[in-house]
Amino acid sequence: LRRVVTGMSDTNAGLGKVVVNRAMSLDGFIAGPDNAMDWVIEYMKEDPFPEVMPATGAMLIGRGTHEVAKRMSDEDTDYDGGPVFVLTHQPPDEPEQGVTFLTCDLAEAVATARAAAGGKNLEILGADMASQCLQRGLVDEVLVYVLPVLLGDGVRFSTSGLGRIDLEPFSNTQSGPVTMLRFRVRK
Ligand SMILES: NC(=O)c1ccc[n+]([C@@H]2O[C@H](COP(=O)([O-])OP(=O)(O)OC[C@H]3O[C@@H](n4cnc5c(N)ncnc54)[C@H](OP(=O)(O)O)[C@@H]3O)[C@@H](O)[C@H]2O)c1
Repeated sequence: LRRVVTGMSDTNAGLGKVVVNRAMSLDGFIAGPDNAMDWVIEYMKEDPFPEVMPATGAMLIGRGTHEVAKRMSDEDTDYDGGPVFVLTHQPPDEPEQGVTFLTCDLAEAVATARAAAGGKNLEILGADMASQCLQRGLVDEVLVYVLPVLLGDGVRFSTSGLGRIDLEPFSNTQSGPVTMLRFRVRK
């Protein structure tokens, strides 16, 4: 399985896959009301799927996710997923340690971050970001950790207007209370 997870993309020799990665409540939210992420930390802090992080070479995240992650930074000390790129229309005047701000076309941002992943996978984080990448056909796989909780409200898995995207399931693994589902994006 690990060889499959970390394998090279067929169409881009030397580049890893582009993977939309997120934890999701059973009712389809990736953040609760007011961007609440305590439920994710609670279930994911033991790292139920330790094979995912070593397969990750870089992250491309939306500014929204970055701002929430900054507020939670004390909790997230064992990150080892490679360079982090933040896409925004308005980069801050001062650089921020540990992240590179990008202001460019989405496909260019994906190519930049993917090239920095050293042949490993590029993870895409953020509902808005991921929806745009899916809509533009830039995503190879979707990886979802389904957490056993209902939230009722919050940030949905995808933004309205995404349209239909067909997926091909290829892996379904349980670790304690968390189920990891993996899909290839049909292109
Ligand atoms: N459960 C999980 O696994 C998981 C994972 C990731 C995030 N989250 C949560 O999801 C929430 C954030 O998601 P979100 O959908 O609200 O925001 P997001 O996708 O992280 O960020 C959206 C922002 O990214 C920038 N952006 C997006 N597309 C762009 C483009 N084409 N060009 C330039 N900039 C672009 C814009 O920032 P500017 O307005 O600065 O231009 C936009 O407002 C947070 O609560 C976070 O904690 C959950």
